[in-house]
Amino acid sequence: MANSDSDATVAPLRSASSTTPLPAVIPRHVAIIMDGNGRWAKKRFLPRVEGHRNGAKSVRMVVEEARRLGVRHLTLFAFSTENWQRPQDEVGGLMRLFVNYLESELDLLLRNGIRLRAMGDLSRLPDGVRELLTRNEEKTKDLSGMDLILAVSYGGRDEVLQAVKKIARKIKAGEVDPETITEQMFAQSLYLPDVPDPELLIRTSDETRISNFLLWQLAYSEIVVSPVLWPDFTIDEFYRCLHVFAGRNRRFGKTQEQIDSV
Ligand code: FPP
Repeated sequence: MANSDSDATVAPLRSASSTTPLPAVIPRHVAIIMDGNGRWAKKRFLPRVEGHRNGAKSVRMVVEEARRLGVRHLTLFAFSTENWQRPQDEVGGLMRLFVNYLESELDLLLRNGIRLRAMGDLSRLPDGVRELLTRNEEKTKDLSGMDLILAVSYGGRDEVLQAVKKIARKIKAGEVDPETITEQMFAQSLYLPDVPDPELLIRTSDETRISNFLLWQLAYSEIVVSPVLWPDFTIDEFYRCLHVFAGRNRRFGKTQEQIDSV
C-alpha cells in the first residue's frame, strides 16, 4: 500500500513548474540536509564558498516549489554546531551568504506568504546574522502559507540537552514531578514545539547519515537520499524524492493488517 499517512496532504491540482507529474501525496513537513556544496566546488577547482553560493540558488528553488506544492513546513539544515570548526574563511563566507540571503529573499517570503523561523544556538552567530534573522522572523510572523525553518548553529544533541536543562530547572523549582514527564511534554521543550515532526528527510550527495539533525523529530521520518550534489538539486530531482516518499509504506511500528483496518 502506498503512503497513506493522514499527516501528509493530498497534492494540489495547481500546475507545477516541473515537467514531472505531481506526486500523489505531499508531506506536511519536509526537512533537507543540503550536502555536497564542497564537492561541487572542488570538481570545478573553485573555493568551497562558491559551492555554498550556488547552493543558495537551490535553496530559492526548493522554497518556491515547496510553497507551490502546499508543503506546510520546510526545514533546511544551513549550519550545524559542528560547522563552527570549519576553516575561518569558509565560516565567514557562509555567514556573509546568510546575510545576503536574508536581505535579498525577504521580498520573496512576503510575496509568497512564507514565515521565516530559525532554530539553533543563535547566540553564537555574528550580531548581523542574528539581527537579520530576528528582523525577518518578526516581519513574516503573521504569514501562514508555509514555515521556512532555517536550522543555523543547530545540533540535535544540543537541542535535546537544552530541553533536558529546561525541564530540570522546572523540577528543581518544584514545578514538575519527574514521574509525570511524557514524550509530548518533552517535545514541548524543544526549539519549535508547535511544528510537527518531518514526514520526509531528504539528504543530497548520496550521504546516508543524519549528522546530528533533528534527532528527536526524525524518529519516524522517511529518509530519501538523492545522489545529486546540493547546488545541482533541481525541481525534477525534488519531485523524484517526493515520488519516492509517496510510494513508501509507513507503518509506525504497527503491522500492515492494523494499518489496513483503520
Ligand atoms: C554542506 O555541504 C552544506 C553546508 C555546511 C552549508 C549549507 C549552506 C547552504 C546551502 C548555503 C545557502 C543556505 C542558505 C539558507 C542561504 P558541504 O560543504 O559539507 O559539502 P561537502 O560534503 O561536499 O564538503
